[in-house]
Amino acid sequence: MLHLEPTPHGGDAAPGCVDFSTGVSPLPPPEAVLESFRAADVRRYPHPTGLPLRERVAELHGLPPDGVVVGNGSVELIWALARAFAGPGRSAVVLTPAFAEYAQAVRASGATVESLAAEGPPFEWNLEALLAMLRRHTPSLLFVCRPSNPCLAVFPMEAVRAAAEASPGTLVVVDEAYQPLFEGVPPMSPGGNVVVLRSLTKVFALPGLRLGYLLGEPRLLRAVQASLPPWNVSAPALAAGRVALDCLGQVDAVRAEVARLRGAQQALLAEAGARVDASGGTFLLCRVPEARAFASAAVQAGVRVRDCTSLGLPHHIRLGVRLEADHPLLRAAWRRVRELLE
Ligand SMILES: Cc1ncc(COP(=O)(O)O)c(C=O)c1O
Repeated sequence: MLHLEPTPHGGDAAPGCVDFSTGVSPLPPPEAVLESFRAADVRRYPHPTGLPLRERVAELHGLPPDGVVVGNGSVELIWALARAFAGPGRSAVVLTPAFAEYAQAVRASGATVESLAAEGPPFEWNLEALLAMLRRHTPSLLFVCRPSNPCLAVFPMEAVRAAAEASPGTLVVVDEAYQPLFEGVPPMSPGGNVVVLRSLTKVFALPGLRLGYLLGEPRLLRAVQASLPPWNVSAPALAAGRVALDCLGQVDAVRAEVARLRGAQQALLAEAGARVDASGGTFLLCRVPEARAFASAAVQAGVRVRDCTSLGLPHHIRLGVRLEADHPLLRAAWRRVRELLE
């Protein structure tokens, strides 16, 4: 555990640099959510397992409250899943390229990680190869990032179900952190050995709030809850989460506006000579000669992009979608980077 290097992430642009490195919605968070956050009573401990929010989420998804665990960001729940179901002598399979914390959390638990990489672009996983891996390793966990960050591919719902049925001893974790922001990607329902992770930080632009939840069978989620400390979600986050759920009616409008901005950003990149290999939700995945060099040159040109080398894509950078006011800067930066690298 001590030898684990921290995983790189976006979202840490230096002052003066415009941050295109995350997939958080570029639209402002709902004002009512911010108000509820500010009004929360922090003089008392919150409920140890966030029951008032779990009840509200459960109602929304037609589950009992024990079928919901809330986390300090969905990332906390990824780590709790690894603590509960992985561990020494066990293994997990991850569909890659994907969010690096699945592998990190599994390794930290003492278990081993097997990856099945998508072929592409366009990126796609081979279901037969996955089924063979599940037979070979009988992993305790399978992580499916749906849609996947950074390759933006969507592992079909039927394929997830086929994998879950073929390997009943494997807990299949479907991470739908970005699902609300993608068109044509219906959410998966939890059940049996499939659990579903949701984040409230992406679609409502609240990454600093830290709030996500896990849906699944209570008998499985009991172990996840037991792997978390009490009061893991603060009173302001619980209060804001309840109001955010009341704002779910705004998600269609957010998704449509993000799609419009993404289209505009993609057109501008094409004009600047960029090759966009995949796009969806709040992301554009661009092919570049060498991602590491490109990302450093981009900082010099005033923008922070996500170098995907650590995610297994050394020739790709990932861009978040931003408001139109930032688009001219991106076009200028793209041209500047090409000059710097020539
Ligand atoms: C695919 C995916 N899942 C989960 C997370 C964690 O998000 P949060 O902890 O803010 O809910 C991220 C963050 O970047 C992500 O990319």
